[in-house]
Amino acid sequence: MATTLNIGLFGFGCVGQGLWDVLHRTKGLQTEITRICVKDRNKLRPLGAGMFTFEQNDILEDPKVDVVVELIDDADAAFTIVKSALLNGKAVVTANKKMVASNFAELLELQQATGRPVLYEASSCGSIPIIRNLEEYYDNDMLDGVQGIVNGTTNYILTKLTETTASYDDVLREAQQLGFAESDPTLDVEGYDAAFKTLIMGAHAFGTVLRPGDVIRRGITAVSSFDAVTAKAHGHTIKLLSQSRIRDGHLTSYVLPAFVPYQDPLATVRNEYNAVLLHGAFSDAQFFVGKGAGGHPTASAVLSDLAALRYAYKYEYKKIEQGTAPSLTTRVPVRAYVRSHSADVVSSVPFSDVEVEYKSGANHYVIGTTLLESLYRSEAFADKRTFIATL
Ligand code: HSE
Repeated sequence: MATTLNIGLFGFGCVGQGLWDVLHRTKGLQTEITRICVKDRNKLRPLGAGMFTFEQNDILEDPKVDVVVELIDDADAAFTIVKSALLNGKAVVTANKKMVASNFAELLELQQATGRPVLYEASSCGSIPIIRNLEEYYDNDMLDGVQGIVNGTTNYILTKLTETTASYDDVLREAQQLGFAESDPTLDVEGYDAAFKTLIMGAHAFGTVLRPGDVIRRGITAVSSFDAVTAKAHGHTIKLLSQSRIRDGHLTSYVLPAFVPYQDPLATVRNEYNAVLLHGAFSDAQFFVGKGAGGHPTASAVLSDLAALRYAYKYEYKKIEQGTAPSLTTRVPVRAYVRSHSADVVSSVPFSDVEVEYKSGANHYVIGTTLLESLYRSEAFADKRTFIATL
């Protein structure tokens, strides 16, 4: 690779502009953004027009470009760009969790076929260096749990909803203005974004390559002040948790809101911060925390990947290569809080053990134990107005 690492950048939104800034303030790492490919011809941009192109091939076919940094939000278009970059002999750095999660197996094949790396530290938990740690530090430790708050937008919303009297719509708007939310915030609030990250971290932690639809997922759109008050009365706060666990040799992965006891370290993670709680056979519990969204924190992970390319770093996917990855199961017990306006909807969940049952005019809830699979197949799970949280 040449002395200067020449970067062709796709996308100049919040993270792209963050990267521009971060690279210009980082001494020592010799990099140069040679060209930036953007879509919107009419948008006002803070750099001279000469930096920009609207033609992808101006970057993809430029022999001077060593690495393509992909920071656009359209996952399908991003995959086409990444594929073409690899086939043209370029390394790729991306923050696009949807693109990585939706094409994980194809990206493995492409890396093998071309010998070029795809690095995506910025795809999961923003500034927390979780992928490379799972890949390198824990390559031989038998991890049996990866639990975390992996979406900054929903954590910001839940923090404000549980700590202030602000409305859901107002705090979502704030999260959008602060640059935390996806262009389509449904991806955040319905838990899709967290499910993509769960899949990516799970592949590196356990070697199991899932498809996005395999990760059972529900978001926070049904949460109400009643739920916040109920959680508080039980000594809990509400978080959207990504949970991957190995039990009896099988993997369970899901994203669901959770009642988290105040004394749990995850309860202390506020606003756009993310956290990952790892559990390993030898390392026991370890807790990572950091900013999970926003231009500069996410750009810091891109920067770290660019620095890693300097020493020809690539993921070895050691846990996948071992060929002993656990298979997925949803037949595991979960303790859950299910609250609805309708007692019938609540009773659609086959609880094996009911700890609390509450009925009033507007709110009915049960706290009890059921199988994850039964919860997933229940009318309550399909009903958008019902709030479900694990405990
Ligand atoms: N929308 C994402 C979040 C951005 O809120 O976590 C970082 O991946």
